Amino acid sequence: MPDSITLHYEIDGKDFSAAGDASSSIKKVLSQLGVDPNTIRRVAISMYEAEINCVIHGGGGFADAIIAPDKIWIGITDHGPGIPDIDLAMQKGYTTATNEIREMGFGAGMGLPNIKSYSDDFNIKSSIGKGTTVEMTIYNRNDN
Ligand SMILES: Nc1ncnc2c1ncn2[C@@H]1O[C@H](COP(=O)(O)OP(=O)(O)O)[C@@H](O)[C@H]1O
Ligand SMILES: [Mg+2]
Repeated sequence: MPDSITLHYEIDGKDFSAAGDASSSIKKVLSQLGVDPNTIRRVAISMYEAEINCVIHGGGGFADAIIAPDKIWIGITDHGPGIPDIDLAMQKGYTTATNEIREMGFGAGMGLPNIKSYSDDFNIKSSIGKGTTVEMTIYNRNDN
């Protein structure tokens, strides 16, 4: 593997059928690089949740990834409403998703708690009216 690979994806806030495309694409790249399947799984779950949040709560944005031999860093940014209370947002089952969003199968309130448990390092920066950046690092290791 080269020293590191950087990737950038735009995340469309209107096309719900494309939600998850960036995380599927990363998953493919990691498999092609021969990264450990457990690591790929943790990256795919964590990034998918942040990407879905970017679409359903943030109105779209972008994702950056740095794939290094020992770890994968992902940052997802939107310019949506921001998160007023991050501790509350982190609670299992807490959601502000509308019924319409829930009918589409999103909004179980487990996205942020899952990112926290599947990633090794996780950070949210959010500012009301300006947007949210979620950053996560997953170390390349062969366990859960
Ligand atoms: N990017 C974001 N922008 C604004 N609010 C967000 C964002 N991500 C998460 N939230 C807030 O945190 C809550 C919990 O997120 P999450 O655990 O992923 O559950 P869910 O997405 O199912 O609602 C969301 O319902 C929303 O209120
Ligand atoms: Mg979510």
